[in-house]
Amino acid sequence: MKLFDVYPINDITIVKAKGSYVWDQEGQQYLDLYGGHAVISIGHTHPHYVQRITDQLNKVGFYSNSIHIPLQVELADKLGKVSGRPDYQLFLCNSGAEANENALKLASFHNGRKKIIAFTKSFHGRTSLAVAVTDNPAIQAPVNKTDNVIFLPYNDEAALEACFKAQGEEISSVIVEGIQGVGGIVEASAPFLQKISQLCKQYNAIFIADSVQCGYGRSGKFFSHDYAGVDADIYTMAKGMGNGFPVAGIIIAPHLHSKHGMLGTTFGGNHLACAAALAVLEVIEQEKLIDNAVATGNYLMSALKKIPQLQRVRGKGLMIGFDVPEKLKDLRKNLLFRQQVFTGEAKPNTIRLLPSLALRKKDADEFIIAVEEEIHAMTASAKPVK
Ligand SMILES: Cc1ncc(COP(=O)(O)O)c(C=O)c1O
Repeated sequence: MKLFDVYPINDITIVKAKGSYVWDQEGQQYLDLYGGHAVISIGHTHPHYVQRITDQLNKVGFYSNSIHIPLQVELADKLGKVSGRPDYQLFLCNSGAEANENALKLASFHNGRKKIIAFTKSFHGRTSLAVAVTDNPAIQAPVNKTDNVIFLPYNDEAALEACFKAQGEEISSVIVEGIQGVGGIVEASAPFLQKISQLCKQYNAIFIADSVQCGYGRSGKFFSHDYAGVDADIYTMAKGMGNGFPVAGIIIAPHLHSKHGMLGTTFGGNHLACAAALAVLEVIEQEKLIDNAVATGNYLMSALKKIPQLQRVRGKGLMIGFDVPEKLKDLRKNLLFRQQVFTGEAKPNTIRLLPSLALRKKDADEFIIAVEEEIHAMTASAKPVK
């Protein structure tokens, strides 16, 4: 059987990983500023993480949600504490799209409404409702198209206000990334998030903060929406939550009530996933990784700003983007194949950095040297190596 060929693939096979580094089968080392798409939060193969999952696997790996799973309660307590939302409720699932799907569905159960506001350049996942609120028609199948989603310009308070004024009684929820990831590292402004919060309260709509990529400490606060000083009704999370173990969740404000059978999933909150998620939170706390994201992020951003060829260096914490001019359009590819550094991208010309929150200054220095060397080589020779 062949694999269903949906991913463009780099010709690299990773066989070993540690901290902010990975190695291929020839033993070549790579610096990882991509974190497998913002997933590696505490560093590859962190010993505490490996130990906790191994210990759990030797006890019980899985049983369904039909029995008590005390690890879920432990995770809810810890997450409430670390996220600063002890009074919220946790529902566990398996991926970012599924988290958003459940959040949108829960909002609609709550207020009985159908319309959802989403924003230009948003990305919320690929399941039916998640992709319907994603601003990319190319990844929506005909069956995903719906009249229930209203796309408004991101960071436009007036458009939001006008939409609520016209049809506020029909709006079930507003879904917004605190920092757009796939959209190119674009921050939601504080007044914009405050306006969403205010209008949702006024019209009994649900404010959903998609924190799948920008959450879990990556921005230097647990949720990037926290920079605006607002509380969303539902936060969705995934990527960094399990440091690679597939685990996701939504946390839900106390005024939203549960009912048996309302939401559910077979694998959500299984023993291994909870052990992985607990290990991640323990390391984030013990190693003060959110503080590190601020310090190393600021350090990296100020060094990037000193490189004259890079444009619009931006971001928060360790969620950083910069644009490259046309003549350096192969920079990302060359960083990977000539400097052995993984980075992310956003179309058309943004390089995205989404490293582990444990990235050290020395790793950041190594990255800056690689970028400078590569820019020098590219501008000197003008011919990138394939
Ligand atoms: C902001 C955001 N939401 C949702 C998702 C979907 O997450 P997943 O791929 O785990 O379904 C992503 C994935 O990149 C994302 O960046």
